[in-house]
Amino acid sequence: MKTAVIGSLGMLARDLCGLLKARGHEVIELDLPDLDIREEDQVFRTLSRGSPEAVVNCAAYTNVDQAESESGLAYAVNRDGALYVAKACSNMRIPLIHTSTDYVFDGNATAPYSEEDEPHPLGVYGMSKLDGENAVRSTASQHYIVRTAWLYGVGGKNFVKTILHHARTKPELRVVADQYGCPTWTMVLAEGLSAFLERVAEGKPAPWGTYHCCGKVIATWHELAELIIDEGRKHEPLRAERVVPITTAEYPTAAKRPHHSALDCQKIERALGIKPPAWQTSLKLMLERLYEAPGAWCKN
Ligand SMILES: NC(=O)c1ccc[n+]([C@@H]2O[C@H](COP(=O)([O-])OP(=O)(O)OC[C@H]3O[C@@H](n4cnc5c(N)ncnc54)[C@H](OP(=O)(O)O)[C@@H]3O)[C@@H](O)[C@H]2O)c1
Repeated sequence: MKTAVIGSLGMLARDLCGLLKARGHEVIELDLPDLDIREEDQVFRTLSRGSPEAVVNCAAYTNVDQAESESGLAYAVNRDGALYVAKACSNMRIPLIHTSTDYVFDGNATAPYSEEDEPHPLGVYGMSKLDGENAVRSTASQHYIVRTAWLYGVGGKNFVKTILHHARTKPELRVVADQYGCPTWTMVLAEGLSAFLERVAEGKPAPWGTYHCCGKVIATWHELAELIIDEGRKHEPLRAERVVPITTAEYPTAAKRPHHSALDCQKIERALGIKPPAWQTSLKLMLERLYEAPGAWCKN
Protein backbone atom coordinates (compact mmCIF):
# COMPACT_ATOMS: atom_id res chain seq x y z
CA MET A 1 0.00 0.00 0.00
CA LYS A 2 1.31 3.44 -0.93
CA THR A 3 1.13 5.60 2.19
CA ALA A 4 2.17 9.23 2.69
CA VAL A 5 3.55 9.93 6.17
CA ILE A 6 3.59 13.63 6.99
CA GLY A 7 6.01 14.85 9.67
CA SER A 8 8.29 11.98 8.63
CA LEU A 9 11.36 13.33 10.42
CA GLY A 10 9.56 13.41 13.78
CA MET A 11 9.95 10.92 16.63
CA LEU A 12 6.82 8.85 15.94
CA ALA A 13 6.99 9.05 12.16
CA ARG A 14 10.56 7.75 11.97
CA ASP A 15 9.48 4.52 13.66
CA LEU A 16 6.27 4.36 11.65
CA CYS A 17 8.06 4.79 8.31
CA GLY A 18 10.60 2.11 9.27
CA LEU A 19 7.86 -0.32 10.28
CA LEU A 20 5.75 0.27 7.17
CA LYS A 21 8.74 -0.15 4.86
CA ALA A 22 9.76 -3.36 6.66
CA ARG A 23 6.23 -4.65 6.02
CA GLY A 24 6.41 -3.94 2.31
CA HIS A 25 4.50 -0.66 2.12
CA GLU A 26 5.60 2.02 -0.27
CA VAL A 27 6.10 5.11 1.90
CA ILE A 28 6.14 8.73 0.75
CA GLU A 29 8.03 10.60 3.50
CA LEU A 30 7.04 14.27 3.78
CA ASP A 31 8.28 16.92 6.20
CA LEU A 32 9.61 20.48 6.35
CA PRO A 33 11.12 22.07 4.33
CA ASP A 34 9.69 20.13 1.36
CA LEU A 35 6.14 20.14 2.68
CA ASP A 36 4.75 22.77 5.04
CA ILE A 37 1.21 21.76 6.04
CA ARG A 38 0.40 25.41 6.80
CA GLU A 39 0.38 25.97 3.04
CA GLU A 40 -2.90 24.69 1.62
CA ASP A 41 -1.83 24.69 -2.05
CA GLN A 42 1.40 22.93 -1.21
CA VAL A 43 -0.46 20.20 0.66
CA PHE A 44 -2.82 19.65 -2.30
CA ARG A 45 -0.04 19.69 -4.89
CA THR A 46 2.30 17.41 -2.94
CA LEU A 47 -0.31 14.81 -2.08
CA SER A 48 -1.85 14.82 -5.57
CA ARG A 49 1.58 14.37 -7.14
CA GLY A 50 2.43 11.42 -4.86
CA SER A 51 -1.06 9.86 -5.29
CA PRO A 52 -0.94 7.87 -2.02
CA GLU A 53 -3.68 5.41 -1.11
CA ALA A 54 -3.70 6.65 2.51
CA VAL A 55 -2.13 9.46 4.56
CA VAL A 56 -0.85 9.45 8.13
CA ASN A 57 -0.43 12.91 9.62
CA CYS A 58 2.23 12.89 12.35
CA ALA A 59 3.23 16.51 11.71
CA ALA A 60 2.53 18.77 14.65
CA TYR A 61 3.71 21.66 16.73
CA THR A 62 4.55 19.64 19.86
CA ASN A 63 6.27 22.03 22.27
CA VAL A 64 3.61 22.17 25.00
CA ASP A 65 5.15 25.05 26.98
CA GLN A 66 6.35 27.15 24.05
CA ALA A 67 2.88 26.93 22.50
CA GLU A 68 1.66 29.29 25.23
CA SER A 69 3.77 32.11 23.75
CA GLU A 70 3.64 30.91 20.11
CA SER A 71 -0.05 30.24 19.81
CA GLY A 72 -0.22 31.55 16.22
CA LEU A 73 2.26 28.95 15.06
CA ALA A 74 0.69 26.17 17.15
CA TYR A 75 -2.77 26.82 15.63
CA ALA A 76 -1.35 27.24 12.12
CA VAL A 77 0.20 23.76 12.25
CA ASN A 78 -2.12 21.81 14.55
CA ARG A 79 -5.47 23.25 13.43
CA ASP A 80 -5.04 24.79 9.95
CA GLY A 81 -2.46 22.23 8.77
CA ALA A 82 -4.69 19.38 9.95
CA LEU A 83 -7.61 20.92 8.02
CA TYR A 84 -5.63 21.23 4.77
CA VAL A 85 -4.44 17.63 5.00
CA ALA A 86 -8.01 16.49 5.69
CA LYS A 87 -9.36 18.50 2.74
CA ALA A 88 -6.77 17.00 0.41
CA CYS A 89 -7.57 13.45 1.60
CA SER A 90 -11.28 14.10 1.21
CA ASN A 91 -10.82 15.41 -2.36
CA MET A 92 -8.66 12.42 -3.21
CA ARG A 93 -11.15 10.07 -1.47
CA ILE A 94 -8.42 8.39 0.54
CA PRO A 95 -8.31 7.56 4.27
CA LEU A 96 -6.51 9.84 6.72
CA ILE A 97 -4.98 8.75 10.01
CA HIS A 98 -4.51 11.84 12.16
CA THR A 99 -2.49 11.70 15.40
CA SER A 100 -3.61 13.57 18.51
CA THR A 101 -3.04 13.79 22.22
CA ASP A 102 -4.25 13.08 25.75
CA TYR A 103 -3.77 16.82 26.39
CA VAL A 104 -7.19 17.46 24.80
CA PHE A 105 -8.50 16.45 28.26
CA ASP A 106 -8.31 18.54 31.43
CA GLY A 107 -7.22 15.63 33.61
CA ASN A 108 -9.92 16.02 36.24
CA ALA A 109 -11.26 12.50 35.65
CA THR A 110 -10.57 9.71 38.09
CA ALA A 111 -10.73 6.90 35.50
CA PRO A 112 -8.97 6.60 32.11
CA TYR A 113 -10.65 8.71 29.41
CA SER A 114 -12.68 6.94 26.74
CA GLU A 115 -13.18 8.27 23.21
CA GLU A 116 -16.68 9.42 24.21
CA ASP A 117 -15.50 11.67 27.04
CA GLU A 118 -15.78 15.40 26.51
CA PRO A 119 -12.43 17.06 25.78
CA HIS A 120 -11.54 20.22 27.64
CA PRO A 121 -7.93 21.24 27.04
CA LEU A 122 -6.00 23.28 29.59
CA GLY A 123 -3.49 24.95 27.27
CA VAL A 124 -2.80 26.21 23.76
CA TYR A 125 -1.20 22.94 22.58
CA GLY A 126 -4.24 20.88 23.65
CA MET A 127 -6.69 23.44 22.26
CA SER A 128 -4.91 23.60 18.90
CA LYS A 129 -4.82 19.79 18.70
CA LEU A 130 -8.55 19.59 19.58
CA ASP A 131 -9.35 22.13 16.84
CA GLY A 132 -7.29 19.98 14.47
CA GLU A 133 -9.28 16.89 15.46
CA ASN A 134 -12.55 18.71 14.85
CA ALA A 135 -11.33 19.95 11.46
CA VAL A 136 -10.53 16.35 10.49
CA ARG A 137 -13.91 15.08 11.78
CA SER A 138 -15.90 17.63 9.82
CA THR A 139 -13.86 17.37 6.59
CA ALA A 140 -12.69 13.82 5.93
CA SER A 141 -15.31 11.11 6.24
CA GLN A 142 -12.72 8.32 6.05
CA HIS A 143 -10.65 9.24 9.08
CA TYR A 144 -9.04 7.74 12.16
CA ILE A 145 -8.10 10.20 14.86
CA VAL A 146 -5.65 8.35 17.09
CA ARG A 147 -4.91 9.95 20.44
CA THR A 148 -1.79 8.93 22.28
CA ALA A 149 0.18 10.07 25.35
CA TRP A 150 3.61 10.60 26.89
CA LEU A 151 5.50 9.43 23.77
CA TYR A 152 9.11 8.32 23.87
CA GLY A 153 11.19 6.88 21.06
CA VAL A 154 14.75 6.29 19.93
CA GLY A 155 14.67 9.04 17.32
CA GLY A 156 13.66 12.25 19.03
CA LYS A 157 13.93 14.50 22.03
CA ASN A 158 11.90 13.06 24.89
CA PHE A 159 11.61 12.45 28.63
CA VAL A 160 13.64 9.21 28.57
CA LYS A 161 16.66 10.87 27.00
CA THR A 162 16.33 13.94 29.23
CA ILE A 163 16.31 11.82 32.41
CA LEU A 164 19.35 9.82 31.29
CA HIS A 165 21.15 13.03 30.41
CA HIS A 166 20.62 14.47 33.93
CA ALA A 167 21.28 11.12 35.62
CA ARG A 168 24.82 11.11 34.22
CA THR A 169 25.83 14.27 36.05
CA LYS A 170 23.47 14.82 39.00
CA PRO A 171 23.32 12.73 42.21
CA GLU A 172 19.66 13.66 42.75
CA LEU A 173 16.79 14.26 40.34
CA ARG A 174 13.49 15.88 41.33
CA VAL A 175 10.56 14.61 39.27
CA VAL A 176 6.83 15.35 39.37
CA ALA A 177 4.86 12.58 41.08
CA ASP A 178 1.30 13.93 40.97
CA GLN A 179 0.58 13.74 37.22
CA TYR A 180 -0.74 10.42 35.96
CA GLY A 181 -0.64 9.18 32.37
CA CYS A 182 0.26 6.38 29.99
CA PRO A 183 3.87 6.35 28.78
CA THR A 184 3.88 5.12 25.19
CA TRP A 185 6.76 3.82 23.10
CA THR A 186 6.54 5.15 19.54
CA MET A 187 6.92 1.58 18.22
CA VAL A 188 3.76 0.53 20.08
CA LEU A 189 1.79 3.36 18.52
CA ALA A 190 3.37 2.68 15.12
CA GLU A 191 2.06 -0.92 15.39
CA GLY A 192 -1.44 0.45 16.04
CA LEU A 193 -1.29 2.87 13.10
CA SER A 194 0.08 0.14 10.86
CA ALA A 195 -2.78 -2.18 11.89
CA PHE A 196 -5.34 0.43 10.72
CA LEU A 197 -3.53 0.64 7.37
CA GLU A 198 -3.37 -3.16 7.00
CA ARG A 199 -7.13 -3.34 7.44
CA VAL A 200 -7.65 -0.61 4.86
CA ALA A 201 -5.34 -2.43 2.46
CA GLU A 202 -7.34 -5.64 2.94
CA GLY A 203 -10.54 -3.75 2.10
CA LYS A 204 -11.85 -4.34 5.64
CA PRO A 205 -11.29 -0.99 7.35
CA ALA A 206 -12.00 -0.71 11.05
CA PRO A 207 -14.94 1.63 11.74
CA TRP A 208 -13.88 5.23 11.05
CA GLY A 209 -13.65 7.52 14.08
CA THR A 210 -11.61 8.35 17.15
CA TYR A 211 -9.40 5.85 18.99
CA HIS A 212 -7.00 5.89 21.92
CA CYS A 213 -3.67 4.08 21.65
CA CYS A 214 -1.07 4.18 24.41
CA GLY A 215 1.02 2.02 26.70
CA LYS A 216 -0.74 -0.11 29.33
CA VAL A 217 -0.55 0.69 33.04
CA ILE A 218 -0.84 4.20 34.45
CA ALA A 219 2.33 5.88 35.72
CA THR A 220 3.62 9.13 37.13
CA TRP A 221 6.61 10.94 35.65
CA HIS A 222 8.43 10.01 38.86
CA GLU A 223 7.77 6.27 38.42
CA LEU A 224 8.85 6.51 34.81
CA ALA A 225 12.07 8.32 35.75
CA GLU A 226 12.93 5.70 38.38
CA LEU A 227 12.65 2.84 35.90
CA ILE A 228 14.57 4.78 33.22
CA ILE A 229 17.47 5.14 35.65
CA ASP A 230 17.31 1.53 36.91
CA GLU A 231 17.30 0.21 33.36
CA GLY A 232 19.76 2.80 32.04
CA ARG A 233 22.22 1.69 34.70
CA LYS A 234 22.32 -1.75 33.06
CA HIS A 235 23.78 -0.08 29.99
CA GLU A 236 26.04 2.66 31.41
CA PRO A 237 27.21 4.01 34.78
CA LEU A 238 24.87 6.73 36.07
CA ARG A 239 25.59 9.17 38.87
CA ALA A 240 21.98 9.65 40.05
CA GLU A 241 21.32 7.95 43.40
CA ARG A 242 17.89 9.33 44.21
CA VAL A 243 14.78 10.41 42.33
CA VAL A 244 12.87 12.68 44.68
CA PRO A 245 9.10 12.90 44.13
CA ILE A 246 7.85 16.48 43.89
CA THR A 247 4.50 18.13 43.22
CA THR A 248 3.44 19.96 40.07
CA ALA A 249 3.44 23.16 42.14
CA GLU A 250 7.15 22.63 42.83
CA TYR A 251 7.90 22.41 39.10
CA PRO A 252 6.12 25.37 37.48
CA THR A 253 5.78 25.29 33.68
CA ALA A 254 4.33 27.76 31.17
CA ALA A 255 1.52 25.36 30.25
CA LYS A 256 -0.82 23.79 32.75
CA ARG A 257 -0.83 20.01 32.41
CA PRO A 258 -3.65 17.53 33.12
CA HIS A 259 -3.48 15.87 36.52
CA HIS A 260 -4.81 12.52 35.27
CA SER A 261 -4.81 12.02 31.49
CA ALA A 262 -4.67 8.24 31.20
CA LEU A 263 -6.47 6.93 28.12
CA ASP A 264 -8.71 3.88 27.90
CA CYS A 265 -7.60 1.79 24.89
CA GLN A 266 -10.35 -0.86 24.83
CA LYS A 267 -11.86 0.45 21.61
CA ILE A 268 -8.71 0.01 19.52
CA GLU A 269 -8.04 -3.36 21.16
CA ARG A 270 -11.50 -4.57 20.12
CA ALA A 271 -11.36 -3.05 16.63
CA LEU A 272 -7.90 -4.26 15.65
CA GLY A 273 -7.28 -7.17 18.01
CA ILE A 274 -4.10 -5.58 19.35
CA LYS A 275 -2.97 -5.30 22.96
CA PRO A 276 -0.48 -2.53 23.73
CA PRO A 277 2.11 -3.88 26.22
CA ALA A 278 2.79 -2.44 29.66
CA TRP A 279 5.01 0.64 29.47
CA GLN A 280 7.61 -1.06 31.67
CA THR A 281 8.08 -3.82 29.08
CA SER A 282 8.27 -1.32 26.22
CA LEU A 283 10.69 0.96 28.05
CA LYS A 284 13.20 -1.88 28.46
CA LEU A 285 13.00 -2.70 24.75
CA MET A 286 13.28 0.95 23.77
CA LEU A 287 16.39 1.39 25.93
CA GLU A 288 18.00 -1.67 24.37
CA ARG A 289 17.43 -0.12 20.94
CA LEU A 290 18.61 3.29 22.12
CA TYR A 291 21.91 1.95 23.41
CA GLU A 292 22.39 -0.16 20.28
CA ALA A 293 21.57 2.66 17.83
CA PRO A 294 24.71 4.42 16.67
CA GLY A 295 24.28 8.18 17.08
CA ALA A 296 20.77 7.90 18.58
CA TRP A 297 21.74 10.24 21.41
CA CYS A 298 22.35 13.18 19.15
CA LYS A 299 19.32 12.52 16.90
CA ASN A 300 17.08 15.09 18.48
N1 LIG B 1 5.55 13.73 21.98
C1 LIG B 1 4.55 13.40 22.80
O1 LIG B 1 4.77 13.17 24.00
C2 LIG B 1 3.14 13.28 22.28
C3 LIG B 1 2.13 12.95 23.18
C4 LIG B 1 0.83 12.82 22.72
C5 LIG B 1 0.54 13.02 21.38
N2 LIG B 1 1.54 13.35 20.53
C6 LIG B 1 1.19 13.55 19.10
O2 LIG B 1 1.83 12.53 18.34
C7 LIG B 1 2.18 13.03 17.05
C8 LIG B 1 3.65 12.82 16.80
O3 LIG B 1 4.40 13.46 17.83
P1 LIG B 1 6.00 13.46 17.85
O4 LIG B 1 6.40 13.60 19.27
O5 LIG B 1 6.52 12.36 17.01
O6 LIG B 1 6.27 14.87 17.15
P2 LIG B 1 7.64 15.51 16.68
O7 LIG B 1 8.80 14.63 17.02
O8 LIG B 1 7.65 16.93 17.17
O9 LIG B 1 7.50 15.49 15.10
C9 LIG B 1 6.64 16.34 14.41
C10 LIG B 1 7.20 16.54 13.03
O10 LIG B 1 6.32 17.44 12.34
C11 LIG B 1 7.14 18.42 11.70
N3 LIG B 1 6.41 19.65 11.45
C12 LIG B 1 6.22 20.69 12.30
N4 LIG B 1 5.56 21.67 11.66
C13 LIG B 1 5.32 21.23 10.39
C14 LIG B 1 4.70 21.81 9.26
N5 LIG B 1 4.20 23.04 9.30
N6 LIG B 1 4.65 21.09 8.12
C15 LIG B 1 5.18 19.85 8.06
N7 LIG B 1 5.79 19.24 9.10
C16 LIG B 1 5.86 19.93 10.25
C17 LIG B 1 8.27 18.62 12.68
O11 LIG B 1 9.35 19.32 12.07
P3 LIG B 1 10.29 20.26 13.01
O12 LIG B 1 10.91 19.36 14.01
O13 LIG B 1 11.25 20.84 12.01
O14 LIG B 1 9.37 21.28 13.62
C18 LIG B 1 8.60 17.18 13.06
O15 LIG B 1 9.45 16.57 12.11
C19 LIG B 1 1.72 14.47 17.04
O16 LIG B 1 0.43 14.55 16.48
C20 LIG B 1 1.66 14.86 18.51
O17 LIG B 1 0.74 15.92 18.74
C21 LIG B 1 2.84 13.48 20.94
